[in-house]
Amino acid sequence: MTLDSPTLAAAAGAIHLGRVRRHVLLCTFGKCAPAAEAEASWKYLKRRLKELGLVDVDGAVLRTRANCLRICRDGPIALVYPEGTWYHHATPENLEQALDNWLDHKVACERLRARYAAIHAQLRCGNDERVAQALAPWLGNG
Ligand code: FES
Repeated sequence: MTLDSPTLAAAAGAIHLGRVRRHVLLCTFGKCAPAAEAEASWKYLKRRLKELGLVDVDGAVLRTRANCLRICRDGPIALVYPEGTWYHHATPENLEQALDNWLDHKVACERLRARYAAIHAQLRCGNDERVAQALAPWLGNG
């Protein structure tokens, strides 16, 4: 596709369209899952992508509300490109798991960092400063 129109090119550039990592279509129509559940999944997806710095940047994950993906059961239904992978029960918990696959393990690394930071904090609270110091370089806090 050529972007002959400057306004179209600007709009595409604003969302880094040429360099997106994934595009998630999430059904929020309300037939495959209760509307409140679908809405909760949508809000969770939007929030997590923002938290992970994956909005309007190179390597972004685009998300779009779909108004029915024609499965209409066991939802919320999600479809992720470029793979074309379909997800059923795309709850916040299951979306969080799926993020690992979409993001080349960025989320998994974030979880590990948080876990080790918590261990580090526990060690410090336990007054075992020597152990904490020994672990510090490995935990990235040293
Ligand atoms: S209502 Fe969700 S797939 Fe049809």
